[in-house]
Amino acid sequence: MKINVWVLVLVCTAFIQAPLYAKGDPAKGKILAAQGDGSGAPCATCHGAQGEGMAAAAFPRIAGLNADYALQQMLAFQQDKRVNPVMTINVDNFNQQQLADLAAYFATLPVTPATTPTAPPEQLALGKKLALEGDWDNYLPPCSSCHGPNNQGVDGNFPGIAGQHASYIKQQLELWQQGQRKSDPVQLMEVIAKRLKPEQIDAVAAYLASQPAQADQ
Ligand code: HEC
Ligand code: HEC
Repeated sequence: MKINVWVLVLVCTAFIQAPLYAKGDPAKGKILAAQGDGSGAPCATCHGAQGEGMAAAAFPRIAGLNADYALQQMLAFQQDKRVNPVMTINVDNFNQQQLADLAAYFATLPVTPATTPTAPPEQLALGKKLALEGDWDNYLPPCSSCHGPNNQGVDGNFPGIAGQHASYIKQQLELWQQGQRKSDPVQLMEVIAKRLKPEQIDAVAAYLASQPAQADQ
């Protein structure tokens, strides 16, 4: 079983061609982040002064996010592959170079510390099992088989999910269950999310949020 997943991942990554975007300039990105795109708000309004996000509102932490991944996601909002009016309006007037600059800037920011877990120990244990060992009876590979050791992320295709807000992780898994997030051309996460039970989503989100993240090198 484990071998099959790795084969799947290797085949998929071979088909996801890394797009040749212009290199982003973090200094320019910092200015753009403060100015906003004209129609929306500065990034800090929702993602915080350090890019730490806001757990209560399910605004994701974007500090330390892989720049290629962040760029792809901002393009996905512009192209309606991720539909979220609260977010899209803030980037819809930026061109691709400006989005690359913004992504480069947030990639340079240090990740903020993981939240202290408030979930009960049994829930965290269930989440840990899913994240690191999977649930093979239900055809669920461990999250780390794609998201990398300790779910710290692997290049621009598999984002780091450790240390992300639980509220945001849960929301994204539910969007995939409902078939609403289309940012991945091969929709690996839609398959995964549709196999997760609600209590598994809560558990894995709580566990991942409590794990320290590393900034993308
Ligand atoms: C009004 C609030 C708001 C503002 C301002 C805002 N965002 Fe967002 N952002 C969001 C929300 C909400 C999401 C999650 C949307 C979803 O659920 O799909 C998001 C998601 C993102 C993501 C995807 C993160 C991931 O892990 O997939 C990136 C990247 C991002 N925002 C960058 C920016 C940048 C850069 C700016 C400033 C130019 C900005 N945002 C301004 C609310 C905001
Ligand atoms: C077969 C590979 C694979 C497995 C296994 C996998 N993921 Fe993913 N995951 C992906 C890919 C690819 C993306 C990027 C999707 C995109 O580009 O929109 C992703 C993105 C995500 C995101 C969105 C992060 C963000 O910043 O927006 C979350 C949350 C997530 N995965 C959670 C999980 C959880 C929880 C598990 C384990 C239960 C898991 N994933 C298992 C491939 C995988």
